[in-house]
Amino acid sequence: MNACLNYCFYGAGSAAEAVVKGMLDKKIAQPEHIQMINRSNQARLQELENRYGVSASNDSSLTNEWLSRADVIILAMKPKDAVQALQALRPNIQEHTMLLSLIAGLSIATIQRIVGPCAVVRTMPNTSSTIGLGATGVCYSTEVGKTQYAIARTMLEAIGIVVEVEEKDIDAITGVSGSGPAYVYYIMEALIEAAVSEGLTAEQAESLVIQTVRGAAEMVRITGESPAVLRQKVTSPGGTTEAALKVLHELHVNEAMKTAVAHARARAAEMGERIGSEL
Ligand SMILES: NC(=O)c1ccc[n+]([C@@H]2O[C@H](COP(=O)([O-])OP(=O)(O)OC[C@H]3O[C@@H](n4cnc5c(N)ncnc54)[C@H](OP(=O)(O)O)[C@@H]3O)[C@@H](O)[C@H]2O)c1
Repeated sequence: MNACLNYCFYGAGSAAEAVVKGMLDKKIAQPEHIQMINRSNQARLQELENRYGVSASNDSSLTNEWLSRADVIILAMKPKDAVQALQALRPNIQEHTMLLSLIAGLSIATIQRIVGPCAVVRTMPNTSSTIGLGATGVCYSTEVGKTQYAIARTMLEAIGIVVEVEEKDIDAITGVSGSGPAYVYYIMEALIEAAVSEGLTAEQAESLVIQTVRGAAEMVRITGESPAVLRQKVTSPGGTTEAALKVLHELHVNEAMKTAVAHARARAAEMGERIGSEL
């Protein structure tokens, strides 16, 4: 990887920070090659400079130079702010620029309608990227060359695992792994509440549930066995686990998960259509 590439984060919130942290932790780039831009939050810029040693600004005389010079511009604003930000970005796009979008719902076609034909990598990471355990879905526009492809992969692998998909599947990724950590938190909350209502202290409940979820995920990963097989292995006929799983089955938890993911996917598509309709 060329250590002298310039990475400019256009949007400096939590998603941008997660990627920056991963890149610095994995030494993909030095802080002097990372610039971060936001709209108005000065305290946030100062915080990022202090925490990571990167350059951060919202002064257009500086940020336009950063954007024009960047090899990779990471689009990291909320979907509602994307059109305006891309319109402002357009004059800064150079032949060598690659855009790497983290924005939910925003299609490659919409990006290119605003900024013109250029290399675009569309991604959907998740919040676990902050600790290097992200799960990111990614697809590429036809303009992305071999070197740019390698740059994008290296960046994304710095924050976790990467799954390449066709663009039509990115909204599904949003529904599965993009929003997925929240589903797991929701289940953890429910399990902690159940433990407390069974008489455990909140502290006991939390430690047990955290370790249970962590251990179960690691069991699947390390043994290579499917969740279904591992579930069957721990479910003795007539035992306690079977009694509990019977209730989850009767309450259609499996169906509820499918419906939840489908709703998240549809919402991502709707957000994308809304952005497109602003043009
Ligand atoms: N958070 C996640 O885990 C996650 C996961 C996957 C994907 N994403 C995607 O990442 C994107 C950002 O999410 P986030 O949670 O990081 O949001 P966030 O914390 O609200 O950050 C958004 C950033 O964009 C900046 N911004 C907005 N308009 C701008 C403009 N015109 N020019 C320059 N900067 C501008 C904001 O600046 P000010 O604060 O100064 O207004 C802020 O720094 C979203 O599109 C989301 O879909 C997030």
